[in-house]
Amino acid sequence: MNMLEGKVVLVTGAAQGIGATLARGLVERGAAVIAADIEDATPVARDIEASGGRALAVRCDVTDAQEIEHTVQAALDGFQRLDGVVNNAALFGRVQNISMFDIDMADWDQIMAVNARGPWLVARAAIPAMEQIGGGAIVNVSTNRVFVGTPELLHYDASKGAVVALTRSMAREVGGRGIRVNCVAPGLTMSENVRQRAGIDSRAPLVNARRAIQRDQQPEDLVGAVAFLLSDDARFITGQTLVVDGGSVMH
Ligand SMILES: NC(=O)c1ccc[n+]([C@@H]2O[C@H](COP(=O)([O-])OP(=O)(O)OC[C@H]3O[C@@H](n4cnc5c(N)ncnc54)[C@H](O)[C@@H]3O)[C@@H](O)[C@H]2O)c1
Repeated sequence: MNMLEGKVVLVTGAAQGIGATLARGLVERGAAVIAADIEDATPVARDIEASGGRALAVRCDVTDAQEIEHTVQAALDGFQRLDGVVNNAALFGRVQNISMFDIDMADWDQIMAVNARGPWLVARAAIPAMEQIGGGAIVNVSTNRVFVGTPELLHYDASKGAVVALTRSMAREVGGRGIRVNCVAPGLTMSENVRQRAGIDSRAPLVNARRAIQRDQQPEDLVGAVAFLLSDDARFITGQTLVVDGGSVMH
């Protein structure tokens, strides 16, 4: 049997990049997905349906508590249950490297609002629905940069450090309610927006050289880890952060 058969999973930031690949990959493993994004995720949902899967596209800005509530309700209306959440939405792919001395305060606040506050707001709205069916699983998306210390994206790195921290605290707070909360920390991954970043062709080989497995990381490389953490096979795993980066960071 597929490891996610019968489960319904909300994936944020699913209109493109890693989120879209995760949505497709979770459906291939038996799940139905709600593809939520501030951009239009309809093409991703249509693509999934065309291959025989079940998916629903919902517009959802993860900084907006009301839109998040509507998204959870859309999941319940569409699929009658909610088993899992992947907190993938973030400001990342189009954020350019910038010195800490040049970061605009409004940009700092916006990155924190999307990347750190967003996962909390989505979890807060989704947990009661997951509790109704006896429990569920949340997978947050951080980055391996948190364990490295890398210059020129200080606002982004601070927001993703918060994701590791909130994963641990949330796991302890909701474990008794049947909810597991884990995190994956990808390395530099060739999503569409990353492929278009200035200087990526010269930077990627340097990143790859630090890996035990020395090649580009693709969005597909993350699907297995996320699916496992959502599945019942991970039933006694919570509060953990799994680095998925080809063996660059080892911790
Ligand atoms: N690609 C990488 O190298 C890499 C490495 C480590 C971690 N990550 C993390 O993986 C995740 C996906 O990365 P990606 O490369 O696909 O990023 P991306 O920037 O290409 O895609 C992010 C998605 O989030 C959506 N989004 C942005 N703001 C939103 C909001 N307020 N509400 C809802 N959706 C919103 C965007 O529309 C987009 O579809 C992010 O959390 C990122 O931080 C990426």
